[in-house]
Amino acid sequence: MYCIKKVTDDLVWVGANDRRLAFFEGVYSVPAGVSYNSYLLTDEKTVLFDTVDKAVRQRFLENVETALKGRKLDYLLVQHVEPDHSAVIPELIRLYPNIKIVCSARVLEFIKQFYDFDIDSHVRLIEENETLNTGKHNLQFIMAPMVHWPEVMFTYDSTSKILFSADAFGHFGALNGALFADEVDFAKDYMDETRRYYSNIVGKYGTQVESALDKVSALNIEMICPLHGFVWRSNLNEIVSKYMLWSKYEPEERGVMIAYASVYGNTENAAEILACRLRDKGIKTVIFDVSVTPASEIVSAAFKWSHLVFASTTYNAGIFVTMEALINDLAAHNIQNRRVAVIENGSWAATSGGLIREILGKCEKINILENNVSILSGLKKAQLSDIESMVQAIAADFPAPAGVAAQNNQAAPNAVDPNTMFKLSYGLFVLTARDGNKDNGCIINTVMQITVTPVKITIGVNKANYTHDMILKTGKFNVSVLSEKAPFSVFQQFGFKSGKDTDKFAGSGEALRTTNGVRYLSEWTNGVISAEVKETIDCGTHTLFVAEVKQAFSLSSDASVTYQYYFDNIKPKPQPPKGNKKGFVCKICGYVHEGDTLPDDFICPLCKHGAADFERI
Ligand code: FEO
Repeated sequence: MYCIKKVTDDLVWVGANDRRLAFFEGVYSVPAGVSYNSYLLTDEKTVLFDTVDKAVRQRFLENVETALKGRKLDYLLVQHVEPDHSAVIPELIRLYPNIKIVCSARVLEFIKQFYDFDIDSHVRLIEENETLNTGKHNLQFIMAPMVHWPEVMFTYDSTSKILFSADAFGHFGALNGALFADEVDFAKDYMDETRRYYSNIVGKYGTQVESALDKVSALNIEMICPLHGFVWRSNLNEIVSKYMLWSKYEPEERGVMIAYASVYGNTENAAEILACRLRDKGIKTVIFDVSVTPASEIVSAAFKWSHLVFASTTYNAGIFVTMEALINDLAAHNIQNRRVAVIENGSWAATSGGLIREILGKCEKINILENNVSILSGLKKAQLSDIESMVQAIAADFPAPAGVAAQNNQAAPNAVDPNTMFKLSYGLFVLTARDGNKDNGCIINTVMQITVTPVKITIGVNKANYTHDMILKTGKFNVSVLSEKAPFSVFQQFGFKSGKDTDKFAGSGEALRTTNGVRYLSEWTNGVISAEVKETIDCGTHTLFVAEVKQAFSLSSDASVTYQYYFDNIKPKPQPPKGNKKGFVCKICGYVHEGDTLPDDFICPLCKHGAADFERI
């Protein structure tokens, strides 16, 4: 009996789940099963996006037949030839002999390698960026080589704003009735399996994933349909932001993953003591016994944590079997950008530590601590100092917990030097809002990301700004990240005037808006973040808005402008005032306040900066 799910009015999920598969690709345990997704678009032409694994072919074929509702199948779009998505192609051709297989030349080559049927009479070859019109829909093809095989292709439906992402953004775990990620507690129940899928299946190809992300970053994507796992129709950043971190091999969490291989418990003992001492210092730790936990889970954890410790006994004059497999697996998956520490054990000739260092030392940006802990059979009291020095070396990378400085009598002098605030680094941004038909914007320097899941940011906005009131009222805003190419006129336009009596967008051309209806700047900016306010904190002169990011996209690879860069390179140097004026000049906008004194609570009438930003003429 068929089992299909509606994705949109003319798109149907016709995939199936497999909960009997012991090992995905013969390697990765999938205790919660896996889904093989396929989608049928019923436009003027009917289009099937990929097929499924042979294990679920019967359900899939019933699903396709049902979703077609008696119509013929016009196109089979093949994005990836790995047999978990292509196994049913030959049978589909027999059932629908007039079908056209739409694919790239590389896909065609792979289909011919795997299967033996007359494909040439069925094929319609397409190339990168070519578009297939199916009636209402336009399908654009985007090559995504090595995500996860060389022939992989994404498809963008510009009509429905759907990205069909092949293996990307997929996860292990069957779909249990739900189809959309927002129907479940994804972060709690599925993110670990998404990371395990990513790190083990495409983790090796971070550079290629980055370039695929780059290619699609300019597209307006409202839905992602992967070949495994849930469909994303909201909060796309929850998954995209993870891919951005993983593809760059950036850790998600600061903390220490300890993996140990221990035959009689002595190496385990050292790992446990190390973890306890790190926890005493407030540093997060997780521990894995590599002989018990599948390597794919430890590889996944290595992609998550910032610091990795490997503790292994010596075995057959080498690294213990399961640890050796893990270390080689990590190197094969291109693990990089981590701090690593090693503990070795050996009753007569300890070699495991040196060998682990040798393998990981060849990986990129792996910084291995010099501190050695070499155990002769069992840890002795005299060696606790070695563990302690490893703890100290790791702890040096973590900020001291609050209060530690005070306990050590290292508190700073009890005074606030306002110049110290200039040591902080800032970017510069155009903050925009819309209230009714009124668009407005101002310059701010206070944008900061605070969480990844979901992606949240804070902005601090001066209450004197009209944009502040608009955001307070509507709860929506955009941040356009200014690049080093931004001219001074942008700062004048958005920073030195009030939106109450000026149209700050006058003469700025086409009104570009994000999906929340708020305008953004496409010129002189390198990225746009669209967010919805979740909390406000009254900070006196300013309001701090805590907001969830709903949309974000890059516009260029130009460097973001910093406050320092603005002062050094963009802002004209203040000219001495004409005549013999006495007073104070605003370092931000050049406004001159005449007089012998400047009140502490003075606010620049042009740019709204305070007395601290003025200097005596
Ligand atoms: Fe799901 Fe690379 O196949």
